Parts: sequence; C-alpha cells; structure tokens
Amino acid sequence: MLEHPLSVLKFGSSVLKSEDDLPVAALEIYRELRKGHRVVAVVSAFADTTDRLLQRARQNFDAPQEASLARLLATGETVSATSLGMLLDDAGVPNVVLDAFDIGLGTRGPVLDAEPDSLDVAALQQILRGVSVVVISGFAGRCGEGRPTLLGRGGSDLTALFIAHQLNARTCRLIKDVDGLYTDDPRGNASDAHRYRFASWSDALRVGGTLIQPKAIRYAQRHGIPFIVCAAGVGVGTKIGNGESKYETGQASRDPLRVGLAGLGTVGLGVYRWLVRRPEQFDVVTILVRDTNKERPGDVPTDLLTHDPRSFVDKPLDVVVELIGGTDTADFLVRHALAEGLRVVTANKALVGSTPAYLERTNGVTERLSFSAAVGGAVPVLERVSRLAQHLDIQQIDGVLNGTCNYVLDRLAEGCEFSHAVREAQDRGFAEEDPTLDLTGKDSAYKLAVTAAVAFGAILDPESIPCEGIDGLSTQEVQHAAQSGLALRLVARLTRTAHGWAARVAPTPLPKEDPLAQVRGEENVVVIRTRDGKTEVLHGKGAGRWPTTISVVADLLDLYRRRTAGAGGRVLTGAGSGEQ
Ligand code: NDP
Ligand code: HSE
Repeated sequence: MLEHPLSVLKFGSSVLKSEDDLPVAALEIYRELRKGHRVVAVVSAFADTTDRLLQRARQNFDAPQEASLARLLATGETVSATSLGMLLDDAGVPNVVLDAFDIGLGTRGPVLDAEPDSLDVAALQQILRGVSVVVISGFAGRCGEGRPTLLGRGGSDLTALFIAHQLNARTCRLIKDVDGLYTDDPRGNASDAHRYRFASWSDALRVGGTLIQPKAIRYAQRHGIPFIVCAAGVGVGTKIGNGESKYETGQASRDPLRVGLAGLGTVGLGVYRWLVRRPEQFDVVTILVRDTNKERPGDVPTDLLTHDPRSFVDKPLDVVVELIGGTDTADFLVRHALAEGLRVVTANKALVGSTPAYLERTNGVTERLSFSAAVGGAVPVLERVSRLAQHLDIQQIDGVLNGTCNYVLDRLAEGCEFSHAVREAQDRGFAEEDPTLDLTGKDSAYKLAVTAAVAFGAILDPESIPCEGIDGLSTQEVQHAAQSGLALRLVARLTRTAHGWAARVAPTPLPKEDPLAQVRGEENVVVIRTRDGKTEVLHGKGAGRWPTTISVVADLLDLYRRRTAGAGGRVLTGAGSGEQ
C-alpha cells in the first residue's frame, strides 16, 4: 500500500447554501483525489440553518439546556454532511460520513464555545486507509462526560484546523465565497480592497474576523499550522501562516470559459446541469445534438441547440466539450477545435485511444486536449497512474474498466438473461451507443491504449490488443463459476515486458476476495503493482451520468483554474507555496 498525503477541506455555509451547491464541494474533493491525496471534508450547515434552529429553540422554549441546544444545532451540520456523502455516492466517489462522536472529537470549556482537545486519530487513520474521502460534520464535539458541545460560531473552521493538525495533513483549505483574505470585505463597497497572497497571523486576526473564526486563527497560530483561504474552482487564494504579509499584484482573467457542448445524452446532460450552476465560471454558448426536434428536459434551453457541426464550431468558444461519441463527427470537432487553438475536453476513449496524434506527447496537442473521463469514470485512473509512473517502477496494471460488462456479469450471476442484462445496462446509461464495443472487450482495449500512452508514453494499437469479451458467455457459465466460489470479471491488463508494454483483455475467473472480484455493477477497479511489491487499488463508479460528469467537469475546472491563476499559471493548492 502506498502512502497518501492528506488534504483537509472545509466548506462553509457561504459556499453550501443548499443541496444545489453540493457539486461545488464534490469537485473540490475530487480535485484532491486526482492528486492522489486522501481527503477529510469538514462541512458547515447549509446557509442560515444554524440561525433558524437557534431562533426556533428560543421561540418555543424558555430555558433549554446548553447541551440540548448543542445537539439541536449540530443537526444542521449532520444534514449537510450526509447530503454531501450522498452526492458523492451518486458521483461514484467512495466515502464515509462521520460526526464528532464517531471521530471522538473531545472538547473542554464552555458547552457552546468549547475548545477541541482530543481526537481518535488511530480510528480516523484506519478509516482513511480503507476509503479516500471522509466527510465530517463540523462545529460539534463532545465533552468529557460524553455530552454534545459546540466550538463557537464559525466553529467548523476550527474543526478543520484541529483535524488537520492532529492528522498532520499536507494541506488545509478553508473554502469560502471569496477568493481569499482582503484588506477590506470585497463583497461590500470597498472597491479598493487588496487581496493578500500571504497573510501573517496578526493581519489575519486583524482583518479576517468575519471570514474566518478568530478562535480558529489563534489555534492555527499557536500550533503553527499554515492554511489557505480560497474560493471553489479559482486558482488563487490567501495562505495564512508565519511570515510577513504580501499583497497580490495583478489580476488574471475572471471571464467565464465559453463552452461549446457537443452531446446532450447521458453524460452531456449531466455536464450541462453542473456547468449552468457555475455561471461565473462557465458560459454554455451552444449545444450540438443529432436531432434538434427530440423532446428535451424542461431545463434545456432549446435556442442553444444545433445539429450542424460547422455552425457549432464557428461560434466564439474557448473550449469544446465532446460528448457525442463515435469517431466521425467527434473527430471533426476535436481536430477543428485544436486547429483553432481551442481547448478540448472529451470522454471519448474510442476516439482518443485509436488516434496516436491525440496521445503522443511530443506534438503539443496533449496539453490542449483533456480526457480524464475516458478511463475509469469517477476513478482517477489516468491521473493516478501517470503520477505514480513518474517515480515508481510500475510492472503491471490490472483493471475492471468496463461498467457495462461488470454490470452484466453481476446480473448473469443472479440468473438474469444476457440480452435482458444488456438492456438494463443501456437503460441505466452505462453502455455505449453500440454495446458491442463494451461486450467484445473493445472498450476496455481502448482504455488500455489510453492508459499506456498517458502513463508510459507507449502507443499501442487497440486493434492489435488480444481481446476476448463477455459476449460468448451464458447465464449458466457465470452462475456455475459463482457456485464454485469464483467471480467472473472482464480483466484488462497492461504488463511491462522487455520490449515495452503488452496488453490484453479477457474474462477471468477470480477468487471472491480478489480486489478485482469485489467491484459491483458499474464500478471499476484498478490494481497497480510496482517492481518492489507495492500495490495501489483504485475503485469507484466507472460509468453512468454522474461518475462521468464529475470527471469531465473536473477537467473543465482545471482549465478555468489555470486561467484565473494569473500569468505564471501557478495554482495555489497546498500549504506549501503554489504547488501545482
Ligand atoms: P449518449 O448516446 O447518451 O448521448 C450522445 C449525445 O450525442 C446525444 O445527445 C446525441 O444527440 C449526440 N450525438 C450523437 N451523435 C451525434 C452526431 N453525429 N452529431 C451531433 N450530435 C450527436 O452518449 P453518452 O452520453 O453515454 O456518451 C457520450 C460519450 O461519453 C461517448 O464517447 C462515451 O463513450 C463517453 N463515455 C460515456 C460514459 C457513460 O457512462 N455513458 C462513461 C464514460 C465515457 P441526440 O440527443 O439528438 O440523440
Ligand atoms: N460503456 C462504458 C462502460 C462507459 O460501460 O464502462 C464508461 O467508459
């Protein structure tokens, strides 16, 4: 098992006003996962929930016990944390939701304004070994007698900094509705407010009191924990720590990216819905579909639809998001956009995997073409494998990379007919428009070709990858394997050889305890093995609307973040200085 740095992120009520804002948090979490970090996400209550709960308690009761008030107010954080966990479930990001009692967050001092003083570090570390994301409801604790307490108003900031300190996190970012700490509140009339690039403890205490809980700043100062205050999706922020304050000089473009969205099917509609919630970052200018007369959901602006690829690419765009699939029109769009100097984001593994020009690193195209969603859906396979490949000697990668086949195999094991199981996978939006690409193993072969190129610079011809699918299997064969204690999985394998990389795809019977056997339905899993015997297992949902949407929008947000990071394009992400 490889080591993973920990990022602690805190989402305040100003960012999470309602369930509609949860994708914002999910994307920030996902961004850390793509770097290979584990994440503790600390969550405040939605918008003004705490005030409303307090007001109702005061209206209805004369003298509630402080511990009862603490328990009542903490329900606000329980609702938002659990909701975030459920959104991550939909997006296929494995997570656990915990509260102050679960993590043994002990406090001392006044019940409603307590100081955190203990944490079950060993239990949290153990949980983080098994799951990449832990969502924690902030603000609350428990006193020595085991009763509920609160860390004071704005106390989720303190929860985050306390956990970051106790777990020795690499990064602690407090995510707010402003992009850093200013000399004056930029949301008010102070048009001459300057943003700090770096703020000393004393400046943070002097000007940051309404943005960051002062008690939390003092805690961080006492324990020497630098942290970042920033907005979601923006490439800048203010680092707070030891040292002299510095102001930001210059301002990078904050204009939204003009997006041309090609495809409004399973994935395209999900991407559209997440983009329109961030109008300050994305402006969907035009949408390409096959049939403009088809009935669309009520939230789709039909005046943006076109079926003409030429008029689509002729619109003033910054980025083309290709989600139509196939290799004809899709290739026209991608080539045209790249030739025009635009950025392109695609989930099309058939197109990317079969086009060396899109995979070769030497031609300058790869910097403008992003395709994280082409492999693994919400599982950040390409990001993780390529990062590991930079400093480890990877020998083999085994993956279950096709959600449709995995879903079908599970259903066959349950006794379902093959054709019926395939139809179910199509109805759920996992299967390709032509499901033979899934069932014959071809889709997995494309994904291996993309992985080999991105991680190792090896260009494999997917047509030459030995490939056996699940299309020859019957319900009886899969059930027979299950009765013998084996699970059949479509395994895609990349192996280092003396001459480069070899790939193959084949249905494989596996003991039930094998990590490849343990994925269910549309989940994907990847097992990475290094020469010195270390392994890393990545898993999550690999197909479907939301797992693919999170990956596509994460690529888009990376583009926006770079645009907003200024001339150097350096994105402030870590407690260190401006790491990428
Ligand atoms: P869908 O079939 O659900 O949607 C395709 C969309 O593209 C539809 O809106 C369709 O228009 C439009 N379209 C198709 N062909 C053309 C064309 N020639 N010209 C203009 N518009 C066209 O596909 P998905 O959303 O499932 O998949 C999209 C891409 O994402 C594919 O490359 C797929 O491999 C990839 N992908 C899909 C995943 C999934 O789980 N579904 C996961 C990972 C990647 P209309 O609405 O009018 O029919
Ligand atoms: N058809 C693909 C699958 C979509 O089922 O895995 C995700 O790439």
